[in-house]
Amino acid sequence: MNDRVFGKVIFTQEAIKSRVAELGLQISKDYANQELLMVGVLRGAYTFFADLSRAVSLSIQVDFLMVSQQRVISDLTENIAGRHVLIVEDIVDSGATASFLKKALQTRNPKSVRLCTLLDKPYARKVAVDIDYIGFSAPDRFVVGYGLDYKNQYRNLPYIAVLEKANPNHAIA
Ligand code: IMP
Ligand code: MG
Repeated sequence: MNDRVFGKVIFTQEAIKSRVAELGLQISKDYANQELLMVGVLRGAYTFFADLSRAVSLSIQVDFLMVSQQRVISDLTENIAGRHVLIVEDIVDSGATASFLKKALQTRNPKSVRLCTLLDKPYARKVAVDIDYIGFSAPDRFVVGYGLDYKNQYRNLPYIAVLEKANPNHAIA
């Protein structure tokens, strides 16, 4: 049984597409003539990463890691020492995950570590974190789609929508 229902779509497919193109352009300018390793944070960033990496007009390299509750579940394959690293996240909420990740990667002596997130929830911040590239500022609501999940569902929606608790009166026991 599904205990959640959709609220409104807050970022349409078209809005995401045009914002991702802008971010790609900015990243391409900022890293021109530099070697860039884009690091996708699984699983939530997979859709954003695929689109953003193709909007970057540089010869980049890619790698992925998976984190959960401030622990690396699956680590990078690449050695990042001496390299420019751009972390690509789906959402910065409390800031705990992004802050942990930046610190963890900094200890490996990269040339630089920057952070790009599709969504930022500034009102939910508990741990301060500098974000270099932000797709959209999101309301302090639970959102799904375009990689973002609820119980590993809704990731394949091509847009981003608010997910609400279903009206308990309509719940099926
Ligand atoms: P943090 O609170 O900034 O550490 O975010 C932890 C993780 O919670 C993010 O990487 C997301 O996977 C997840 N998360 C936070 N807010 C949302 C949301 O609105 N929808 C889906 N996942 C979320
Ligand atoms: Mg996640």
